[in-house]
Amino acid sequence: MRAVVITGHGDLDVIKEREVPMPRPGPGEVLVQVHAAGCNNTDLWTREGSYGAAEDPDVKTGWLGPLDFPRIQGADVAGTVVACGDEEATGLVGKRVLVDPAEYDGPGPDARPADVLGSERDGGFAEYVVVPSARAHSVEGSPLTDVELAALPIAYGTALGMLDRGAVSKGHTVLVTGASGGVGLAAVQLARSRGARVVAVCGGDKGEAVRSAGADAVVDRRRGEVLADAVAAAPGGYDTVIDVVAGAALGLGLLRAGGRWVVAGALAGWAVNIDVRRLYLANLSLVGSTMHTPRIFDRLVEIARRGDVTPVVAATFPLGQVGEAQAQLARRSHVGKLIIVP
Ligand SMILES: NC(=O)c1ccc[n+]([C@@H]2O[C@H](COP(=O)([O-])OP(=O)(O)OC[C@H]3O[C@@H](n4cnc5c(N)ncnc54)[C@H](OP(=O)(O)O)[C@@H]3O)[C@@H](O)[C@H]2O)c1
Repeated sequence: MRAVVITGHGDLDVIKEREVPMPRPGPGEVLVQVHAAGCNNTDLWTREGSYGAAEDPDVKTGWLGPLDFPRIQGADVAGTVVACGDEEATGLVGKRVLVDPAEYDGPGPDARPADVLGSERDGGFAEYVVVPSARAHSVEGSPLTDVELAALPIAYGTALGMLDRGAVSKGHTVLVTGASGGVGLAAVQLARSRGARVVAVCGGDKGEAVRSAGADAVVDRRRGEVLADAVAAAPGGYDTVIDVVAGAALGLGLLRAGGRWVVAGALAGWAVNIDVRRLYLANLSLVGSTMHTPRIFDRLVEIARRGDVTPVVAATFPLGQVGEAQAQLARRSHVGKLIIVP
């Protein structure tokens, strides 16, 4: 089959399109024909090896440690099950599925991701992919297209996890950073659908698109006054800051007493100075959030089946253009998701 691999950590030149052996599903696994596979910022960080390690923040590595190469990236897969490795999954054959990219550290509904498709295992930038049958969720009858479905797992799963951990609910005021990107735009749509008032931080020319996705107000970060403009947009303060950008201790200056600053990314820098007095005197919570849990993914599958949100797709690319897609992702001039269509 055709697949796109990365041959090691590095720049775009480590991305190669190749003929590779067709993977075979073993017991407990299914073979999925990939109809669409979403691109995520993690594809860039994993290719570059930018995650660092607790003992050495500058070491080149994947998010959970060293990776095996060549590796097929692509965590977000929508497709059809075409074969299974044992009789238990025969009911899935022929079904349209959305794949949960995570394998978990335990059996419960609140388990944490312990490895991810396209990082620790070969992913969806290929014609076919093998996944555990328990992670292939039928979305038969969903009104969403395959391309829209492939926008969901990482971005919307991460955004749902952040909103849950930030206790976002009806009537709350929420600030979302990186709001024109995959996770940020998902957080805008999902927070709005919970009945929250959403203020979104993004680059100026993307403001209209972010507003159309559901933001009540937009802060243009290019003005260089994010803190002051965010205060002006919600003078009573924020219940939750949903932050994938970090770089500054934004949450501490904006939250009401008892508020939550939920962080899932560090696009503007991972070393942040915090005045802990603001944290404890106002009973604030600083919450780290990574991806989803099985319980959260089940809710995402329900959202997908009903078509409760329509993901914003910025562009699609054929399999041979994974490099172009990653270059566009790194330029960040688009709004929404970039999707590979093998
Ligand atoms: N922890 C997790 O489980 C998890 C899961 C998914 C993603 N992430 C992380 O979350 C972050 C966002 O991911 P994504 O897939 O949504 O990325 P994305 O689609 O590339 O969007 C990120 C957006 O953030 C804004 N931005 C970029 N650099 C910025 C900077 N220096 N300062 C302020 N804003 C900046 C840009 O929008 P504007 O130009 O419009 O401001 C950009 O569109 C990444 O760091 C990613 O690694 C974490």
